[in-house]
Amino acid sequence: MTTRTFTTRRTAPAVFAGVAGILLAISLTSCKSQPNLTGNWAATGKTLENGEQQKALLQLKQEGSQLSGTVRGLGFQTDVKGTVNGSHFELFGVDWNDKKPFLVGDLVDGKIEGTEWGEKFSAKPATPADDFPKEAYIEPPPLHPVPYNGLAKTPPMGWNSWNLFAEKVDDKTVRTMADAMVSSGMRDAGYIYVNIDDTWEGVRDASGVLATNHKFPDMKGLADYVHSKGLKIGIYSSPGPRTCGGYPASYGHEEQDAKMFAAWGIDYLKYDWCSASTIYKDAQLQPVYQKMGEALHATGRPIVYSLCEYGLGSVEKWAPQVDGNLWRTTGDIRDEWDSMMDNIDKQVPTAPYAGPGHWNDPDMLEVGNGHMSDDEYRTHMSLWALTAAPLLAGNDIRTMTDTTRSILLNKEVIAIDQDPLGKQASPVKAGKLETWIKPLKDGSVAVGVVNLDAASATAAIKASDLPVKGTVKSARDLWTHQPVKFADGQYSTTIPSHGILLLRVSAR
Ligand code: GLA
Repeated sequence: MTTRTFTTRRTAPAVFAGVAGILLAISLTSCKSQPNLTGNWAATGKTLENGEQQKALLQLKQEGSQLSGTVRGLGFQTDVKGTVNGSHFELFGVDWNDKKPFLVGDLVDGKIEGTEWGEKFSAKPATPADDFPKEAYIEPPPLHPVPYNGLAKTPPMGWNSWNLFAEKVDDKTVRTMADAMVSSGMRDAGYIYVNIDDTWEGVRDASGVLATNHKFPDMKGLADYVHSKGLKIGIYSSPGPRTCGGYPASYGHEEQDAKMFAAWGIDYLKYDWCSASTIYKDAQLQPVYQKMGEALHATGRPIVYSLCEYGLGSVEKWAPQVDGNLWRTTGDIRDEWDSMMDNIDKQVPTAPYAGPGHWNDPDMLEVGNGHMSDDEYRTHMSLWALTAAPLLAGNDIRTMTDTTRSILLNKEVIAIDQDPLGKQASPVKAGKLETWIKPLKDGSVAVGVVNLDAASATAAIKASDLPVKGTVKSARDLWTHQPVKFADGQYSTTIPSHGILLLRVSAR
């Protein structure tokens, strides 16, 4: 097992990032020389794509230079901690393990000006009128199993808008991305789903129908277009009243939304916990997710059901019972080595629960987004394949480089991910060289050796350590696409820093 340890980033919807102009609400107890942030602040951020205004409430307590409290946005809430230096303060999510503060601000003349995930906001002392509307509590249904939809026999593959485009995704982007999925060869390599993430939502009308916003003028037309390319289309919502980005979500409208998605021709739903945490406890995740699972089932349309709950509530133990085809095992991935490795580590304990129809999801791919080296991206792709993770590209398929293309379209690596046996690899050897082994349907094994060190290192794989029956008959390096020879029962090679050796080994 790996010896690396990480703190769990419990509810770290990166979503807050691009979308949340935050709102803080604070009541200020200030003295002239030393401003104090203690109190409640109402913050106003940018105008959302549906015309509504991003808001947040900040409850803070300052003790000397230390700051603590809670930040509640439309779509999320988190306990925070941070520091104050003069009029300047910085806040971190308590459970998020982030290196940089997500919210910074300055208290000047009784008001706060700041940024939250890079988006500007301003805040004033809060009044009761600033509080968010109270949502009536809806009891989730009693537990019972939802029948399996028969989908995702191998881990879902496709593209998702969030990692690169966030709130900038629109109809044109999706259409041109669908075109590129075909022209680049992604579709034919198995990347079938084109998934629209958060920020497509408009507002709900009096009869409860949720409109799209100006970026998606004709969702049915868009779905038809994506289908005409031999692809499938996915969409996004939340079991809470608001998505992580602060847009209206499916709370109390599950059946209505599921029917609308089916009528549009939607093939995949990512359902993101977000503001459901302001209404329900983690212990209620299963019945809450069951509600949408049943609503999707009732439409009669085959819709892949993707649970996005950041690994909360031992999801892997019950997700198949709500007809979840995949479920997140982690907080949001960032395009950084540490974040990627952190996510794959959180995937490890859930290995026994992966199998045809039901997959652990360490979040979408960052390959090609520019902040990891090519070796790191090859490791990223290989580890996702070894752990039978969904392969949802998160880059711009229209403009990807040849190297990115060679990583995402490596058919020998994709075959490891899509192996019909559906076993998830586990790390079997820790240290600077970490070995992962995945049994495959034809009796061969995939072996990955990751070099975690800052310098290149030599790996020696012993045939006797591999769970294959008999002696090694053939072995292939899946990145060089060359056969490799086990001499005297061993294969040795040099692996660059943060690179991977990925072999497929057969025996007789
Ligand atoms: C959460 C999810 C992300 C993304 C955003 C959208 O952070 O974990 O994958 O869907 O919400 O708001």
